[in-house]
Amino acid sequence: MSRLKLGVLGSGAGSNMQSIVDAIDRGELDADIKLVLADVPDAKILDRARRHGIPCAYLDCAPFRTKLEGPAEDRCIELLKGAGVDTVVLAGFMRIVKTKLLAAFPERVINIHPALLPAFPGVHSWTQALDYGCKVAGVTVHFVDAGTDSGPILVQKCVKVEENDTPESLHARIQVQEHIAYPEALRIIARGNYRIEGRRVKIG
Ligand code: GRF
Repeated sequence: MSRLKLGVLGSGAGSNMQSIVDAIDRGELDADIKLVLADVPDAKILDRARRHGIPCAYLDCAPFRTKLEGPAEDRCIELLKGAGVDTVVLAGFMRIVKTKLLAAFPERVINIHPALLPAFPGVHSWTQALDYGCKVAGVTVHFVDAGTDSGPILVQKCVKVEENDTPESLHARIQVQEHIAYPEALRIIARGNYRIEGRRVKIG
């Protein structure tokens, strides 16, 4: 397999993107981040990209508030293709991506979700897990399909829920596992030793 050419989409702090940058720098992931796009003009993920000399831009997604569609989706595809991206990494991107982007990068759009899917899709999933009384929470890296947090699963990591956990403390421990899980999932893709059979991703 050739070196992955990643395009990262985010909305927030960019700690997952940072974990990918760090894995690349340590020689643990055969990839380059070609472009970072954020739908929030002052998102920290853009500052991080600039600090690492990674090309980045703000992507205006108006008039939509929760999805990437219309002219913004077209522009996004154009920018990613223009940068030579072959794999799209959603790293805290707070929008639902639509079929045009998925068709432009078939089986090459990856997402990270802070829960053990299929439990607790959607937002604030760690709070949902806590409120439900789960003893175990976690993180899932999965291929993106047309549903919400529903594509074939690449990597999952468990996090024990402690008696005195708050949403913040649980989320913080989940994030530690996210930063291990995302590079691990991308390593599987970079090595190319997997196949998707229905819902199952068979590795090795
Ligand atoms: C993470 O918890 C991720 O799982 C969720 O959004 C958060 C993004 O964090 N989808 P960051 O921007 O990568 O720090």
